[in-house]
Amino acid sequence: MRLLCCMRSGRIPYPSFVNYKKSTKIAMTVRISRIQNDIETINEFNATPGFGVTRSTFSPEYQGAVTYVVEELKKIGAGVSICRAGNIRGRIPGSGEDGPAIMMGSHLDTVVHGGQFDGVVGVVTALEAARIIVEDKIAHQLPIDVVIFAEEEGSRFGRGLLGSSIWTGQLETEQIESIKDDRGVSYQEAMSQAGLKLDDHGKLKPRDIRAMLEVHIEQGAVLEKRGHRIGLVEAIAGIRQLNITIIGTADHAGTTPMEGRLDPLQTAARIIIAVDKIARNTGPNTVATVGRITCEPAQVNVIPGLVRFSIDVRDSNKIMLASAVTAINQTVKEICAERGLLFEIVQLSEAEPVTLSKSIIDLLEEKAREKKVAPYKMVSGAGHDTALIAELTEAGMIFVPSRDGLSHCPQEFTRLEDIALGCEILLATIIQLAA
Ligand code: HGY
Ligand code: MN
Ligand code: MN
Repeated sequence: MRLLCCMRSGRIPYPSFVNYKKSTKIAMTVRISRIQNDIETINEFNATPGFGVTRSTFSPEYQGAVTYVVEELKKIGAGVSICRAGNIRGRIPGSGEDGPAIMMGSHLDTVVHGGQFDGVVGVVTALEAARIIVEDKIAHQLPIDVVIFAEEEGSRFGRGLLGSSIWTGQLETEQIESIKDDRGVSYQEAMSQAGLKLDDHGKLKPRDIRAMLEVHIEQGAVLEKRGHRIGLVEAIAGIRQLNITIIGTADHAGTTPMEGRLDPLQTAARIIIAVDKIARNTGPNTVATVGRITCEPAQVNVIPGLVRFSIDVRDSNKIMLASAVTAINQTVKEICAERGLLFEIVQLSEAEPVTLSKSIIDLLEEKAREKKVAPYKMVSGAGHDTALIAELTEAGMIFVPSRDGLSHCPQEFTRLEDIALGCEILLATIIQLAA
């Protein structure tokens, strides 16, 4: 295992106003101080200190954070492999032969200027649960895997859940080869530039995994508003991410009459307003977001010649999702036809809505109630790698509250004692599943 390290940036101490009670009412096996240290150490690997956290897949910051977790896994004797697509797997062998594993983990890549907890919480809780299982010599038949999924956010290569999509065989080689970052570096080149040599090229198959569990921040305000400390995810919303290109005619801003302009930005504006209306009028849980827009040549005194923008559409209901996407495609066609402009719609990524395993949810609920915690069952509007792993095996997700529901921004915050509680429930569930 050779992973590049990098200069650490400043340590982001856990926000001092966190006055969590050192000893909570709940008997804790996990060590809160170790979880805190893991979170702070991982977030030292950050390309934008002072402006949130930015850790782009395979960047030096990303490799530094991954190397830290790998070293921690090696300290407890886990066998660590770099798997297909640069996903990391640390395996604690069980007493039985090397059968299907119990998998737990999340991601360490972030959005640009993101928060300290998205993905990190799932990795550090899996790491701490693994430590306890080894240190306390808790017997388990099945192997237990701690995983770090690569490129979950899609911030570098433009499509989310990329590492898990490749690992589970959802993307074939030619598709993978066409994926490049905005400097034209392909996914494969980025891995070799980071010095990654795969130990395991294999696709993940149902026979490899007995169950998958991920602890994640909610990234919404439901738990906080309802006064719950633990959420159990019943379904994960489906996602379609589109890239729209509208081609007009660049021209002089001063000498070109309004009549007859072929202005792609004016056209895009009408489409973007229509997208918002479609989302509001489709289903109760339909959401659509235009998060990125670029315009060329982007000069104050030039009518744009070309505009590109993204559309991220989600719904936990398959039919509503499809209906919203169809309406959006139709709207792009109609508005561009009306204004005489050419357009292109490219689907960047898709993930179907996924229902998670009832038996896993029941087990998680049982473990939560053993700790006198009443979990809240809910839908995840955010996408997660677990959605793809759930196509191969039984999967569950534990949510912990996000303060003010904020996420994908520097203000993202979750209390350490809630993370530790999520870890306790994860640990108890893993021990039972791997027994
Ligand atoms: O976009 C998402 O839902 C996730 O945070 N990657
Ligand atoms: Mn995430
Ligand atoms: Mn995210």
